Amino acid sequence: MGNYYNPVRIKIDSIDVIEDVLNTIKPRFTNIVLLHRGGDFPESVAGRNLYKSLENFEVKQIEVNISNPDVEDLFHYYKQIENFDYQCIVGIGGGSVLDLSKSLAGLKDLEIESVSALRTMIDQKQYVENQNVVPWIGIPTTSGTGSEVTCWATIWDHANGVKMSVDSEHLYAHTAIIDPTLTVSLPKGLTASTALDALCHATEAYWSKSSNEISRIYSLEAIKRIVHNFEKVLNHPTEVTYRNEMALGSLYAGLAFSNTRTTACHSISYPLTLELGMVHGIATSITLAKVLKINFDSIIENDKLLQAFGVSSCDEVQGLIEHFNQLSGFSSKLRDYKANEEIIDKVAANAFTKGRMDNNPVALTQEEVKQILLSIY
Ligand SMILES: [Fe+2]
Repeated sequence: MGNYYNPVRIKIDSIDVIEDVLNTIKPRFTNIVLLHRGGDFPESVAGRNLYKSLENFEVKQIEVNISNPDVEDLFHYYKQIENFDYQCIVGIGGGSVLDLSKSLAGLKDLEIESVSALRTMIDQKQYVENQNVVPWIGIPTTSGTGSEVTCWATIWDHANGVKMSVDSEHLYAHTAIIDPTLTVSLPKGLTASTALDALCHATEAYWSKSSNEISRIYSLEAIKRIVHNFEKVLNHPTEVTYRNEMALGSLYAGLAFSNTRTTACHSISYPLTLELGMVHGIATSITLAKVLKINFDSIIENDKLLQAFGVSSCDEVQGLIEHFNQLSGFSSKLRDYKANEEIIDKVAANAFTKGRMDNNPVALTQEEVKQILLSIY
């Protein structure tokens, strides 16, 4: 049985194809918002090529210098482009840039007067009815987020200590351009943490309650590529062959979880990031093998999952993640992120994100989540 849907046009190609993509969308539109990471991007080869491709358009640039965008950040960017009648958004960057691009595409022409109005709008999903959503193009510069092929974006609300989601079927990108050469300059830590995030997307998609025959094929292909090339890409960061494999791994993981969403590991990761400031991919993968062990008997064709990891037991997956962390300079123990028993209790209590934890094949109690966290303390 299978029921798979993803409307994003995917181009595994050079960033230069963007000109053709823009002409396909609507030949006569004029105004584009370009979100990018900033830094040396404008002077980079990719930056210069992108600007050349956009020279016939009126472009408003937004430099995104933050990670884990908050609702206040989204409001800030919304105000910057509110009066610029944009007909398309191009986002080039990591997950934060793509999530902001997607969110801003969905907020086009909505009247939002304050941060609290935006908070309410997201909370009550008022943007879902918006008839003026504009097309957006996602160009990832990391291999991990999957945001270029999913229809939701993570927006944090630090003031209230929660993670929110801008989520609608109207928010799929028009096109995703996967150009692995954009990732060759990624530092080791970011290469590793984004790859671990993608590994979780693929694995959680595999065991998700909503998994299907098609998504599982993407999951297995993603896991094989990421596991097989993880060490190689860290040792040879400028080797495009390995970057290409990681980009495909991330893309396939994105295609898998675009239809299934994530489960317990992501759900537990949100309070870990809020309470301990843990990087997303580390916060998600730190519980992956523990949750695998709990889920194992409920997983369809669980032997294929272990085969994709190249192991024969759940404990070996734990060893593999610890090895990856060690190679990349991350700890696999919560105590090294300044966790304590009080924080672990708080994380366990706040680990039950709707649509994520209840998507896990085995129902976990707060006490079980606490035991998972204590086992990696
Ligand atoms: Fe993730």
